[in-house]
Amino acid sequence: MADPASGELRPAIERMPVSRIRDVANEAMGMEGLIPLWFGEPDVATPDFICQAAADALSQGETFYSPNRGVPDLRHALARYTSELYQVPVADDRITITASGMSGIMLSHQLLIEPGTNVICATPAWPNVQGTVDVLGGEFRPAPLKFTGSGWQLELETVFDAVDDNTRAVFINSPGNPTGWVMPGDDQKALLAFCRERGLWLLADEVYARLVYDRSHAPSFLEHAGPEDRVIVINSFSKPWAMTGWRLGWLVTPARLGQRLEMVNEFNLAGAATFTQIAGITALRDGEDFIARQLERYRSARSAVYERLSANPRIRIGWPEGAFYAYFAVDGIDDGLAFCKRLVREHRVGLVPGSAFNAAEEGWLRLCFASQLDTLNTALDRLEDAIAS
Ligand SMILES: Cc1ncc(COP(=O)(O)O)c(C=O)c1O
Repeated sequence: MADPASGELRPAIERMPVSRIRDVANEAMGMEGLIPLWFGEPDVATPDFICQAAADALSQGETFYSPNRGVPDLRHALARYTSELYQVPVADDRITITASGMSGIMLSHQLLIEPGTNVICATPAWPNVQGTVDVLGGEFRPAPLKFTGSGWQLELETVFDAVDDNTRAVFINSPGNPTGWVMPGDDQKALLAFCRERGLWLLADEVYARLVYDRSHAPSFLEHAGPEDRVIVINSFSKPWAMTGWRLGWLVTPARLGQRLEMVNEFNLAGAATFTQIAGITALRDGEDFIARQLERYRSARSAVYERLSANPRIRIGWPEGAFYAYFAVDGIDDGLAFCKRLVREHRVGLVPGSAFNAAEEGWLRLCFASQLDTLNTALDRLEDAIAS
């Protein structure tokens, strides 16, 4: 690694901190019997029918470059999927295929961020949101969610107060990683009205849109925004269809961004892989039963993990309305990173400290419950030992 102060690379790159998730994961090098609950991904492989669609596409010679905004049939399928899910018309020319939600976030920030500008982001938030703002030399401004005792809430004033003349966008991830918070539709409407008034972009990371448990779908900014509003919705095949390793996602934007996105995507990827996009069409067409089965499993896991953690008098936890994380604080832990490292070393369980997500307070931890119940119970036994010791 370059010396952080060498001046050899761009200052924005040399200033970038090492990932705390990786920092904790390094403790586990060569360890046996570890239960890793730090990464946010389903514990099962992609279903066979989707893999088969990719294999078929390969054997049929689908090995050439794709158009920069994606294979037209997939864009069409996503326009239909989005229109049906939210009961709002979304045309094909509003869809751009990306190589993952991650690349969708980077593309969106590349359109908007430059040194001297800032993005307001509801926090705690997935660290890569800040990472991409940092790479581009912009400023990441947290707008902390408030813990209510039973869940999380974004007071819109917190966002409004953080905005200044250099603000380009407000970034909202709902359902949220790591909190499981779901932004209510009325708050989405009010935030959208504010962004309209101030000429700001709203970047909505909705990669967990299908992972909600107490309602049919998470409210989406697409339900309130007109087709020309300054709203970019970032989405991905990773979580609902268990396709994290495929790197396939999409953006819904105003159609007028199409040509610019085509150019910027060209300079990043020159189009996502063609055969994965073709398999994406099959995932959309035939994947609903798979999503329903996974949701059932996560729902049981969520209850089991929540019940055990909330029974511990030293733990504060919010009820995760969406995504697949338990996010909780342990009284007495004043250095979450050190605790997570000890948890790996001495108890062989991998969690992530809240400080990785720009948490406002120490002592918070994230556990991904997309796992088997017996594995989760063993991990919780070990965690309780670690808290008690
Ligand atoms: C909030 C959030 N957004 C985006 C992503 C990106 O997912 P992917 O790049 O696999 O599509 C993740 C992955 O963990 C996430 O948690």
